[in-house]
Amino acid sequence: MRISFSLLQLFLGLLFATNGILLHCQAWPARYTFVVEETPYRRLCSTKNILTVNGQFPGPTLYTRKGDTILVDVINKGNRNITLHWHGVAQPRNPWSDGPDYITQCPIQPGANFTQKIIFSKEEGTLWWHAHSEWDRATVHGAMIIYPNKDTNYPFPKPHAEIPIILGEWWKEDIGKLYTQTLQNGGDPNNSDAFLINGQPGDLYPCSKPETFKVVVDYGKTYLLRLINAGEQEILFFSIADHKVTVVGSDASYTKPFTTDYVTISPGQTFDLLLIANQRPDKYYYMAAKAYVGGVGIAHDNTTTTALLQYKNHVPSSTPPLLPTLPAYNDTNASVHFTGSLRSLADKTHPVDVPVKITSHLFYTLSVNTFPCPNNSCAGPNGTRLAASVNNISFVNPSIDILQAYYYHVNGAFGTRFPNFPPLLFNFTAQNLPLYLQTPKRGTEVKVLEYNATVELVLQGTNLVAGDDHPMHLHGFSFYVVGWGLGNFDKDKDPLKYNLVDPPLQNTIAVPVNGWTAIRFKADNPGVWFMHCHLDRHMSWGMDVTFIVKNGKGPQAQILPPPRDMPPC
Ligand code: C2O
Ligand code: CU
Repeated sequence: MRISFSLLQLFLGLLFATNGILLHCQAWPARYTFVVEETPYRRLCSTKNILTVNGQFPGPTLYTRKGDTILVDVINKGNRNITLHWHGVAQPRNPWSDGPDYITQCPIQPGANFTQKIIFSKEEGTLWWHAHSEWDRATVHGAMIIYPNKDTNYPFPKPHAEIPIILGEWWKEDIGKLYTQTLQNGGDPNNSDAFLINGQPGDLYPCSKPETFKVVVDYGKTYLLRLINAGEQEILFFSIADHKVTVVGSDASYTKPFTTDYVTISPGQTFDLLLIANQRPDKYYYMAAKAYVGGVGIAHDNTTTTALLQYKNHVPSSTPPLLPTLPAYNDTNASVHFTGSLRSLADKTHPVDVPVKITSHLFYTLSVNTFPCPNNSCAGPNGTRLAASVNNISFVNPSIDILQAYYYHVNGAFGTRFPNFPPLLFNFTAQNLPLYLQTPKRGTEVKVLEYNATVELVLQGTNLVAGDDHPMHLHGFSFYVVGWGLGNFDKDKDPLKYNLVDPPLQNTIAVPVNGWTAIRFKADNPGVWFMHCHLDRHMSWGMDVTFIVKNGKGPQAQILPPPRDMPPC
């Protein structure tokens, strides 16, 4: 049954892609039902119950068109609290349906419902949705496909068909337990047992071969791969043996076409890739993904997931399928080279709109930290408890969500003193930083932005505890990535090298290990918007910032009224 459903999805995808536009409005579901429930799944020779949507893993694909609005009736029949987030959808004026628990809503409790309204505006291409409570997004996620609206088309030749490729991560143990145990013992989470392509580990894992995901292509045709990293803890390298791909979009925004052997994709990111089926049709090829880890000495899952690519009407020779050569797991150059090659399309119909006059200059340090533990009894380095911070504040969830507290003027839920700069300046990326710098402060501070503020935010990784790459994701906005570098940001020299002409428009950007990234956006979306590292352990350890963008003047600059069925706290 699972198989037939994903075939149905694939068929629908092919149908939509082939037509380019849909013929009849009735066929376009504006309303979806998402039943969250426990479902048994068998992977790597063992079965466990996982939380799913409608019994599917990965979950159902949402199809829409640029600028449309859809409703999703979320019904929680599971055994735990949950929220859902529509990753990369700006949701103009509508933070109510955004999803992060204790930021814009309290969780949907078992037995409760919540109808979420997803307002699409400028996004076009591929995004995804996922749970935004604890680490449930490991199994509660799916693709969102946003087609051009009726009067427009892709800025590239119409592909023959489209193929969603969702990269995931699988643990044999229960995800709820993994979360609780990690946060209780204070150490690193256990590595995952497998990576997945469309829910399947692939041929290189035990008990997996019969169900390896397969793509069958027609020789000479062009396919649109909609690549999503739904993994929890690892940035991934992805590649297809003997085939190159051309990046044409990232985070639902078109890019200048750029042809490459491999892709670096961090949790949260999405790419639209064109694949031309132009290699020897009498062979099998693997597409494969494995971890990229920039931090030194950081444990990771070192396995490789694969799916099969084969040509229609050809009987492959008996040789085993070809594996692509992926960069080494610690190849930071390969990682930043790919990410640094992205450019906005920046043509007449897809103009860039980078803020040039900046009203809010922000500089945020991203650190992994430790808290001391009684009798050094925690599982972090030297018995400490691992933590993470932005500007030395390790974010603590309030007990009622920040949006409600803000909207209804409830005092005491949060403070408004999130600092614009780190409290201490030191050589952020030096080796052997003094131990006293490791301990952050705990807090629930937000950063308040004026409506229409033009923001430049420099994200600076530090080498505290262990420097690492941080895929930072901002809710409520896409931002332009105007610059990046390794080492410390130089406020005099680096801005001279910014790309203000065709910077990529992203919702997630991996700040390189012991490096920095500068982003710009205009705060034209009133509401409460979360920003966090999309490695789930860093998010849960406190590498989070909450922005409040104030209402502006006039009705179009105000937060929409809350829906009646907001989950109670
Ligand atoms: Cu993809 Cu805050 O999430
Ligand atoms: Cu991180």
